[in-house]
Amino acid sequence: MSQLHVIDHPMIQHKLTIMRKKETGSKDFRELLKEISLLMGYEVTRDIPLESVEIETPLCKMTGKMVSGRKLAVVPILRAGMGMVEGLLELVPVARVGHIGLYRNEETHLPVVYYCKLPEDIQKRTVIVTDPMLATGGSASDALTMLKERGCKHIRLMCLVGAPEGIAKVQAEHPDVDIYLASVDDHLNENAYIVPGLGDAGDRIFGTK
Ligand code: PRP
Ligand code: URA
Repeated sequence: MSQLHVIDHPMIQHKLTIMRKKETGSKDFRELLKEISLLMGYEVTRDIPLESVEIETPLCKMTGKMVSGRKLAVVPILRAGMGMVEGLLELVPVARVGHIGLYRNEETHLPVVYYCKLPEDIQKRTVIVTDPMLATGGSASDALTMLKERGCKHIRLMCLVGAPEGIAKVQAEHPDVDIYLASVDDHLNENAYIVPGLGDAGDRIFGTK
């Protein structure tokens, strides 16, 4: 069974509350999303393996720890997932970035794929899928399936706000994928929007409405 990690650090909760306010503009919204992504990145990467390396400080030789093994890839679900990439790249500058383009059909609320470009060696990497909103879970679940079809075996899903319905869907369809969230919200409304949520994340990031 996949684990649900709710990262309720006070700094993350504070920044998320500002993002939720309807009067917060695109510039602040983007900056806060980037900052939260970096902070969440600490937890999402908490268990990546380390190896011992011999180094020399200005004073003496010592054995230090450095990240070893499988490399990372960040895969945002377009568009809104893009808003979480920069913060993660500040933490892991050598990570490769792939893109999966999905949008929700406004009537059926079902995801439609329009783009997929991934690093060549994606199947060898630990993949962090990003999307601020986990609503019905359709988009995230389809993105995870696309990655598995391409051979990925070590995937984590990093979102900002999740609805119980979306969490349940991803856990049922991808029991091997851990989910990281800053908040579990109350429910979905009749348009499959998260309540209380923060509105349409893509529109708020890119100022398209
Ligand atoms: C939003 C959001 C997720 C999806 C979540 O994207 O960024 O990808 O909806 O909904 P779900 O869990 O019900 O699938 P949207 O389709 O609005 O596209 P956009 O990011 O391009 O605005
Ligand atoms: N997509 C969003 O951007 N927000 C929601 O609340 C649901 C889907």
